[in-house]
Amino acid sequence: MINNEIIIVQNLKKFFGEVKAVNGISFNVHKGEVFGLLGPNGAGKTTTIKLLLGLLEPNEGEMSIFGLNPEREEVKIKKRIGYVSEEPLIFKSLTPKDLFNFIASIRRLDETTTTERVREYLESFDALEYYDQLIATLSHGNKQKLQIIAAILHDPDLLILDEPIAGLDAKSVKVMKEILDLHIENGGSVLFSTHIMEIAQDLCDRIAIINKGKIVGIGTIEELRQKANKVGASLEDVFLRLTEQDTSVIEIVKRLRASFRKKNQ
Ligand SMILES: Nc1ncnc2c1ncn2[C@@H]1O[C@H](COP(=O)(O)OP(=O)(O)OP(=O)(O)O)[C@@H](O)[C@H]1O
Ligand SMILES: [Mg+2]
Repeated sequence: MINNEIIIVQNLKKFFGEVKAVNGISFNVHKGEVFGLLGPNGAGKTTTIKLLLGLLEPNEGEMSIFGLNPEREEVKIKKRIGYVSEEPLIFKSLTPKDLFNFIASIRRLDETTTTERVREYLESFDALEYYDQLIATLSHGNKQKLQIIAAILHDPDLLILDEPIAGLDAKSVKVMKEILDLHIENGGSVLFSTHIMEIAQDLCDRIAIINKGKIVGIGTIEELRQKANKVGASLEDVFLRLTEQDTSVIEIVKRLRASFRKKNQ
């Protein structure tokens, strides 16, 4: 591994026909760091994550994870990663119990210890009552909890999380934060994407703000504030400035107010 870099991405590009989903992105994730990808809908966050996981092939660019090449050494890398996808990718015709037994067998984890850990995590997430219930019948947030538990069971070195908090209730977000803290304390690293400013501000050591397939700002919150020329501003204001949405929000609000007034006259 070069200088403790867990992930190195250089000039990464992925096009879908005319759409430049990822258009020359470069960033590094250091060991022990929580690194956030923050960007509007369609910015290229999920595509970047899928490229790193070898789920999509890049048009151009270089990537390495743990000093390994995701295209050639996918299996070695995947053993050391826990992934939570944007859409729950879990087997709906199983119960959580079946699912975790299956994961324990493919990851060659001790079944008794795994069951104990799973039950503990489910209890922390207030979801133990669903242990024997079909996954298809669970709510979105409860499916999301299963995905998170499935991603951490093998104690991965790196967690890659695509909007992991989107469907969770307030208490579960706290539990999730605790899980991430423990993962970092144990020497792990995290790459995750989010829309939620407080989560990014709270959890991330560094953030890359992505807009239209390009990074428009990267660094600590303080560094992003400087880049946006907004001393002391909230991350939201910095984000809107760097993604050039701050004036359009003002315009939208004006338009909405005008049309609302007309309707009520
Ligand atoms: N399989 C695909 N085929 C065609 N276009 C795609 C495909 N996947 C993504 N795109 C396009 O690539 C762009 C980036 O999408 P991506 O899913 O990476 O965005 P995102 O930042 O994750 O957005 P969100 O915040 O909504 O999850 C979008 O314009 C999207 O429509
Ligand atoms: Mg996405």
